[in-house]
Amino acid sequence: GELRAASQAQPNIALIKYWGKRDVALNLPVVGSISITLESLWTRTDVHFMPGQKDDRVSLNGRSDQAETKRITKCLDLLRTRAGVDYGANVASRNNFPTAAGLASSASGFAALVHAGARALNLDLSLEEQSMLARRCSGSAARSIFGGYVEWVHGKLADGTDSVARPLLDANAWPLRVAVAITSTAAKQVGSTEGMNRTAETSPYQSAWIDTQEADLSVARDAIRARDFDALASISEYSCLKMHALALAAQPGLLYWNGATVECMHRVRALRQQGVPVFFTVDAGPQLKAVCEPSAIEQVKAALRDAPGVLDVLDTGLGEGARAIAT
Ligand code: DP6
Repeated sequence: GELRAASQAQPNIALIKYWGKRDVALNLPVVGSISITLESLWTRTDVHFMPGQKDDRVSLNGRSDQAETKRITKCLDLLRTRAGVDYGANVASRNNFPTAAGLASSASGFAALVHAGARALNLDLSLEEQSMLARRCSGSAARSIFGGYVEWVHGKLADGTDSVARPLLDANAWPLRVAVAITSTAAKQVGSTEGMNRTAETSPYQSAWIDTQEADLSVARDAIRARDFDALASISEYSCLKMHALALAAQPGLLYWNGATVECMHRVRALRQQGVPVFFTVDAGPQLKAVCEPSAIEQVKAALRDAPGVLDVLDTGLGEGARAIAT
């Protein structure tokens, strides 16, 4: 039959951040990380292997993209090697949210690509194996294979086969909500991979970052297990600001925030001081993600929408991992 399958995956947002690689070729992280998988933002990817076709042909939101095609080919090569085939694929992928604006499109993108590509080639891969392959394409993609609360362990083995994500808690067991303040739609200045490499080479705080991560992971795991919002809020903001402090101290410094990002941080903290259950996190881009209890979502959205420089506010619950959809 046809070597074709399609899958959907959603972005995830790290609460305890991944930043830094212990092995660049295998994409192994220096630290573990913990994330939440989102619900209503998605990537849908159709992969069709074509015996006799040499190259991969990629369409992203209806357009071809040279840089992304290279990365996708590298990722598909991992699947082709496993299946013992060498032919190209036609890949069509769509996001329902702005790409390249620091909204983790690579996480949902590579999770969906691995999930669909493996089925298209009739590879019978466990979710752990899919997570490991997604990790090699983009680290954070390892986590989007799973839904809800997810931990990606850094692993001990040199070949990286134990550096996979695993679910900690189902989305519906603690259905927090996330408001995403879009403060810029420009493509990001310095991508995560380059930012991490520069940080490792130049930031004097790299070893402190690595040394303190295990304690943060343990606090976050306990907070999630106990559904302790205040504990998760404080450890998540701490990990976010610590990652940015680490990156800010690189040479030249990595400044991912704009003025609106900082304004939103202050607004989230002001709400929390008034007793509203909300906290922020920011990745390698200017968007601010506010995580809150369901009862607070309208108030949080209103506060962010009202901040100078905020272009739009999206809102989503927590969702499931990668899954098959119709081609
Ligand atoms: C700040 O997964 O995009 O979002 O492995 O080089 O592809 P590569 O990096 P990527 O980095 C994500 C960094 C982060 C934090 C996180 O998601 O944990």
